Amino acid sequence: MQLKITINGEPVSRDVEPRQLLVHYIRETPGLTGTHWGCDTSNCGACVVLMDGQPVKSCTILAAMCEGHEIRTVESLESDGRLDPVQLGFHEHHALHCGFCTPGMLMTTRALLDENPNPSDEEIRVAISGAICRCTGYKNIVSAVRWAADHEAATRQEA
Ligand code: FES
Ligand code: FES
Repeated sequence: MQLKITINGEPVSRDVEPRQLLVHYIRETPGLTGTHWGCDTSNCGACVVLMDGQPVKSCTILAAMCEGHEIRTVESLESDGRLDPVQLGFHEHHALHCGFCTPGMLMTTRALLDENPNPSDEEIRVAISGAICRCTGYKNIVSAVRWAADHEAATRQEA
C-alpha cells in the first residue's frame, strides 16, 4: 500500500507492506536511525517517537495507522545547531552511557515538558517508567529532566 506520513515536518511517501511497523518505516524510509529498535515487545521504550505530540512506542504501531499524522523523531530536537534543553540536560547531568535508551528517553521527556513544564521528580519518574535504561541508572536521568525544565523556565522568563 502507498503511504504518506509527515516525519519531522517533511512528507515521506513509500509503498509498504500493511504489516510494517512504524519503527521500521522511520528507520528504513527516511533513514532516521536515531529511533532505536530494542525489544519489539513494548518493554524497553527505545523506540519512542511523538505522534501528534504524544509519546508512542513505534514498535507497537503499524506505519499504516500513521497516515495523516505528524511523527516527530529524536533527529528533530536539534535545530540550526542548537540543542533542545532536554539534550543539554542529558549532557549536563551525564544521563547517558551507551546511549541506546537515550532517543526514547529524550522524546518521552520532551513530551512531558511540553505538557507539564514544571514536573515534580515523581512525575518525571512516572513519565519515564515505560523506558528501560540498563547502564546509566535513573537518578541522573531525573536530574537531567529537572535541569531541562528549569532551563526552559529561565529561557521563557528572559524572552
Ligand atoms: Fe519498542 Fe522496545 S523496541 S518498546
Ligand atoms: Fe545505556 Fe540507557 S544509557 S541503556
